[in-house]
Amino acid sequence: MKQATVTMEVGDDGVAVITFSNPPVNALAIASNGGNFSGGFDLNVIETVQRTGDISLLPDVSVDLIVNIIEDAKKPSVAAIEGFALGGGLELAMACHARIAAPKAQLGLPELSLGVIPGAGGTQRLPRLIGLEKAVGILLSSRPITSEEGQKIGLVDAIEASEELLKVSRQWALDISRRRKPWIRPLHNVEKLGSLYDAIDLLKMAKQHVKQTVKNMLQHQACLDVIAEGIIHGGYHGVLKESEVFKEMAKTDTSKGLLHAFFAQRATTKVPNVTDVGLTPRRIKKIAVIGGGLMGSGIATTFILSNIFVVLKEINSDYLQKGLKAIQVNVRGLVSRKKLTLHKAEKALSMLKGVLDYSEFKDVDMVIEAVIENISLKQKIFEDIEKVCASHCILASNTSTIDLNIIGEKTKAQDRIVGAHFFSPANVMPLLEIVQTEKTSPQVILDLMTAGKTIKKVPVVVGNCTGFAVNRTFFPYSQSAHLLANLGVDVFRIDQLISDFGLPMGPFQLQDVAGYGVAVAATKELSLSFPDCTFISPLVDLLMKSGRNGKNNGKGYYIYGKGSKPKPDPSVLPIIEESRRLTNIMPGGKPITVTDEEIIEMVLFPVVNEACRVLDDGIVVQASDLDVASVLGMSFPSYRGGIVYWADTIGADNIYRKLKTLSEVYGNFFRPSNYLTERAARGIQLSAPAPTSSGARPRL
Ligand SMILES: NC(=O)c1ccc[n+]([C@@H]2O[C@H](COP(=O)([O-])OP(=O)(O)OC[C@H]3O[C@@H](n4cnc5c(N)ncnc54)[C@H](O)[C@@H]3O)[C@@H](O)[C@H]2O)c1
Repeated sequence: MKQATVTMEVGDDGVAVITFSNPPVNALAIASNGGNFSGGFDLNVIETVQRTGDISLLPDVSVDLIVNIIEDAKKPSVAAIEGFALGGGLELAMACHARIAAPKAQLGLPELSLGVIPGAGGTQRLPRLIGLEKAVGILLSSRPITSEEGQKIGLVDAIEASEELLKVSRQWALDISRRRKPWIRPLHNVEKLGSLYDAIDLLKMAKQHVKQTVKNMLQHQACLDVIAEGIIHGGYHGVLKESEVFKEMAKTDTSKGLLHAFFAQRATTKVPNVTDVGLTPRRIKKIAVIGGGLMGSGIATTFILSNIFVVLKEINSDYLQKGLKAIQVNVRGLVSRKKLTLHKAEKALSMLKGVLDYSEFKDVDMVIEAVIENISLKQKIFEDIEKVCASHCILASNTSTIDLNIIGEKTKAQDRIVGAHFFSPANVMPLLEIVQTEKTSPQVILDLMTAGKTIKKVPVVVGNCTGFAVNRTFFPYSQSAHLLANLGVDVFRIDQLISDFGLPMGPFQLQDVAGYGVAVAATKELSLSFPDCTFISPLVDLLMKSGRNGKNNGKGYYIYGKGSKPKPDPSVLPIIEESRRLTNIMPGGKPITVTDEEIIEMVLFPVVNEACRVLDDGIVVQASDLDVASVLGMSFPSYRGGIVYWADTIGADNIYRKLKTLSEVYGNFFRPSNYLTERAARGIQLSAPAPTSSGARPRL
């Protein structure tokens, strides 16, 4: 491992250039080496603090280094920023007396997204440099900005080409020292803060907003409180308070969960026998998408936005026009939300071509099939594309449940068959679950991983089975919710509790949003493979018979009006009653009594149980992959670290005992898996790697 170094060279002009280097991201350990200013404070240190509880490992740099040595020094300092200056990196730069940045450098304070707050003066100096309102926006969103945006708002003093950066920065330092340019010590600069009354009002409003929009997390409120401290009692006080709160936040479960999710995502980039065997990814320049429905149109959108040609195939011109229109709406929507320029939108749309046959397929590098979930239709399509595509072409399916060996059964190109499982809406959800069979070639996996990154998704490679990692793990989620509903528990109460737990919506609303067709198709496939996790409920059929199709037709468990929040629909209650009458599982014909906590356990512990079976079957490389997949694919709250991490915070033994009791009352649906039983008995974490002697993990 390379050593971190700090060097200082004094030039003929008398300016000292301090350079630090700590590859790969110049984690802080005023120009820096290696193309990046600094990625910020070393997160491994915070992780160690959280693991060991030794808070003294967190260095106290805020006053001694940042205030005394840099900001209040008798010599001016200028930060020369290239690449990125994030977190502690930007905090260091903000303590300097000027900031000169290269074009397109990234500047940001992402601490809140990791459950902490800035710890080196960021909460105090940012408002003093750019004004309170903008600073609050940047801090609460954790969103980085470019040097160009930074210059507009006063965070960056000048933008200079990389080659000129050091020269110009040296000159700025000289100019400041000779008073040709202002010598601004940001912490003492209160001009931009506005009146005390307005500032307090703004912070109050921000706190209200955070209360409504950010669930179960403390760091946002804490950050606003620390800013207020500095405004009321002065910047120096604010810095001291910030340092104290930073340490408190670093110890919270929220920060532990978020940091775990962060490292877990990084770990997905290493896949045994794929990324470690010296292969070079091939570039994917043109793809074909078969099916322009909900998923196909979303998938096509992501590719054209990343400059990859897309041929979209449909069955007739009506459906084709519908698909093309949906893609246009997706792309133009980005323009109206100011996320894309008109020019880029037109360029993206020019990369799209609609077709009704396979004649354009001969030069595509990959086909992604996204037709309805029907085995024989998919088999026929794979038979056809094997014939019309070039011999290097990747043959991918977006199936959500069907075993890929079955889809590719009638082809010879088994090594090119792979799952490219996107989540709905495909142009928004970040996860790309890449499903490899025993026969998929490592090159194909690597190419798809690379394409996934190009289209800004997070690829997670998993093994093949019905439902793969995510849908298989979460199959019991809707099943247990339906079981509870049929036991007499109010569906809106279940949804509310799951949403309070931190998922964006509960299982019934999710069913409304996804459409009942998806629920029927997925249940059909998954129940065949996993009968023990299946609860046969007539409820969805009854809803469909009564003319409901969820959000699609505005009528589901909820009423969906344009622009308004979905409202529970009381007219759904008699249909639920009918389902209860048919299943007849309420003990003594009366609804069961359950606490809020029991509802969460009854819905989510079966999910943990299935996650255990997924781990046991070697469907993921490591348990943390399932955490990433649950966060990015199912929107499981990232501050709970992911499904397996969360389960470990409760303890295998507690979950085992609860499921055992539930299985005694309600049957096999809750029966603890072998993996859970064994880990609970031996007191081992669910996420701990399997001992090598015990079998096939990792199977990938
Ligand atoms: N909807 C979801 O939430 C979701 C999520 C992940 C994966 N999936 C999977 O994605 C696939 C597509 O699902 P969807 O929701 O987009 O379905 P959809 O019904 O919205 O779209 C399917 C489209 O395929 C077209 N099609 C059918 N046969 C075709 C053929 N031979 N050639 C070209 N086009 C053909 C249909 O005309 C239709 O427009 C399914 O396998 C589904 O399991 C769905």
